[in-house]
Amino acid sequence: MELPAALIGVSLLQLLLPSDAFVSYSPHSLRRRNADTKRRTPHRSALHASADTHPPPHDPYCESGPLLRNNKGEPWVAQRNRPRRNRKSAVIRRMVQEAIVRPSNFIYPLFIHEGESDEAIASMPGCSRLSAGSVLKEVEDAMQYGVKTFILFPKIPDQLKSNYADECYNPEGLVPRTVRAIKDKFPEAMVCTDIALDPYSDQGHDGVVENGQILNDHTIAQLCKQAACQARAGSDVVAPSDMMDGRVGAIRDALDSEGHITTSIMAYTAKYASAFYGPFRDALDSHPGFGDKKTYQQDPANGREALIETALDVSEGADILMVKPGMPYLDVVLRLRAATDLPVAVYHVSGEYAMLRAASERGWLDEKKSVMEAMTCFKRAGADIILTYFAKNCAKWIAQDGEPCY
Ligand code: PBG
Repeated sequence: MELPAALIGVSLLQLLLPSDAFVSYSPHSLRRRNADTKRRTPHRSALHASADTHPPPHDPYCESGPLLRNNKGEPWVAQRNRPRRNRKSAVIRRMVQEAIVRPSNFIYPLFIHEGESDEAIASMPGCSRLSAGSVLKEVEDAMQYGVKTFILFPKIPDQLKSNYADECYNPEGLVPRTVRAIKDKFPEAMVCTDIALDPYSDQGHDGVVENGQILNDHTIAQLCKQAACQARAGSDVVAPSDMMDGRVGAIRDALDSEGHITTSIMAYTAKYASAFYGPFRDALDSHPGFGDKKTYQQDPANGREALIETALDVSEGADILMVKPGMPYLDVVLRLRAATDLPVAVYHVSGEYAMLRAASERGWLDEKKSVMEAMTCFKRAGADIILTYFAKNCAKWIAQDGEPCY
């Protein structure tokens, strides 16, 4: 059993501070001093004026009431600790702000495809499957606002999909070609690539399928080839996203044995079997062909299980750990933050993007304020890195308004 870190923090504070630090101060002597300035309760006879009179309103200044009067006769709650003092102006609020979102915290996911022109993604308004030319333009655009890290997700044509997903390690495939193009044109851009079979699987699963089962170790053999292929193309960070057991260690060894010792691994450590991935699967046309992903992705009901995955990914050599989805899983972000000193990333997934976009389009939410609040909450929960389709927009807002921009 473990206590939430916030609770532990509070009880430690109570041990350290004098016991009256948390109690509002209202000694009787103050009441006596204030007696002469106190308003009197209505006279008894007034209360009995008619039989159906309601009970009189409680007088907050009466002997048992909460209010006193100060030396100027003004109402006064004898309260020394007033946290509102640290919120009294924009300047002090900014000065004491704990969590600050910077453009450099973002990883910007980009959808790519073989087409000559961009294709809008209906369930993700504002996002498109980008052509080779548009990817470079989008990278350039985002970099101008300080977003310099990208992660690529390919939409693969059906005829290249198979159960073993062999297209995933084709050196001339869409992902390696795009990585090379970005790194050639923008050497300082950091490119991350997803390691999973689903975009390439004719089964719509993240693993090799046999008799309706997802095979763990056969899948890992393919992931190792995929990771090596991407590292050769120049990927800076490979991000295994399929939740197969033992994949991080195997990929680390596969990379190291080829000399890719500087290629980082960002592990999707606590990736849940979530309904919030729906729009992403529309984008890649990667909905599961049968069943669901619950035999490999985590049950949304489980928090402790994320710590089992954390211990494994750390011991297998992950450089960055990730929690996914984001907003409904902030408790998991907090748990990982407490359990490891590695950087923690959080993925604000497609369904979360779609919800905020849809409500904003209808005028039900202020897009900038609600999106920036969500981003700030990720940082407050302990995330260092945020993957979000809003990355470029957020960086623009930050550039316009300074920090914070809500
Ligand atoms: C697949 C993968 C998924 C996402 C990232 N990598 C979907 C899934 O597991 O089905 C989801 C991202 C999003 O919803 O934004 N390995």
